[in-house]
Amino acid sequence: MFGVHNCVVGTGMYVPDKILTNDDLEKMVDTSDEWIYTRTGIKERRISSEDTSVLGGKAVENLLKNIGKNPLDIDLIVFCTMSPDNNTPSCACLVQKYIGAKNATAFDVNAACTGFIYGLVVADSLVKTGKYKNAVIVGSEVLSKLINWKDRNTCVLFGDGAGAVFIEPSLDVNTGILDTYTKSMGEKSDSLVSKSITIENSLIGENKEIDPYIVMDGREVFKFAVSSIVESVNKILTDNNLSTDDIKYIVPHQDNIRIIESAAQRLKVSLDKFFTNLYKYGNTSGASIPIAVAEMNESKKFKKGDLIILVGFGGGLTYGSVLIKW
Ligand code: COA
Repeated sequence: MFGVHNCVVGTGMYVPDKILTNDDLEKMVDTSDEWIYTRTGIKERRISSEDTSVLGGKAVENLLKNIGKNPLDIDLIVFCTMSPDNNTPSCACLVQKYIGAKNATAFDVNAACTGFIYGLVVADSLVKTGKYKNAVIVGSEVLSKLINWKDRNTCVLFGDGAGAVFIEPSLDVNTGILDTYTKSMGEKSDSLVSKSITIENSLIGENKEIDPYIVMDGREVFKFAVSSIVESVNKILTDNNLSTDDIKYIVPHQDNIRIIESAAQRLKVSLDKFFTNLYKYGNTSGASIPIAVAEMNESKKFKKGDLIILVGFGGGLTYGSVLIKW
């Protein structure tokens, strides 16, 4: 099976109905629509009362509906999240149960906002071995449960949602996932943190106070984000003897329009080449790229043969890109 590319045969997404606008946030913390919009490009975000696995399950249901497949067809479920329901069972196993994908192997991947890129790389590699016929890769987050709603530095940035794609070996040897690139920088892990809540370990006797909310060094992450987009795009272009002129769309992780503008400038690419929808969803971490791809696919933006680069970056720190010929 090595040498055969996997193609994205379908997409699906699900976002909760509840909308939290910048005006709503003005009533909660010392901020303004003007500050949030000019610094980030975000106008509103979705807030979920359901679990991360349920959002993901609904995105997969929509995906299967869109491509007319049955849950029993799914061989592998890779669920990408930094806001799982539990330590165990994984969100992937909960989605398997939710949709009745009894034939699937299911597990989670955590690479924060790069989660979907990492998940796609893992799933693509496993399907390429021939051991799995296909894979569903889900990116889903309920970040609202990891937000300190009194901290204006972070609460204006994030949102909830889910997206999913279905991949299987391409019948056309020239199309599909052509190349991938991933990198991690564990030495910079302190720049963006959300700790898991631990129960007191009576054996050790320590009673640690754990703050589970997202904290980050905004400026440091901003610089990292811009340079990681530039590196990830340039690396995958160079490795494939391509230039930005060959690329129809760059689909970045959706976190801040200023980050995307700076990266576009440094890459000398028109901002129009970058798809953005962050104004209506905020930063949905591992869900942002599959939601973007689903919206683009559903509005028929992709034409057969288009070259697309997906690029992610986030906590870990982690980053990477995927080159797809549609
Ligand atoms: N409303 C109003 N003022 C706010 C605010 C808010 N929501 N959040 C922060 N501020 C204040 C700060 O307290 C600071 O005040 P001070 O100068 O009195 O100390 C001031 O605004 C400027 O802060 P600064 O850090 O210079 O703003 P910035 O231009 O760097 O923008 C971020 C802040 C967070 C928007 C920006 O750093 C960013 O987007 N970073 C990347 C974050 C991200 O995307 N993380 C996820 C990556 S996957």
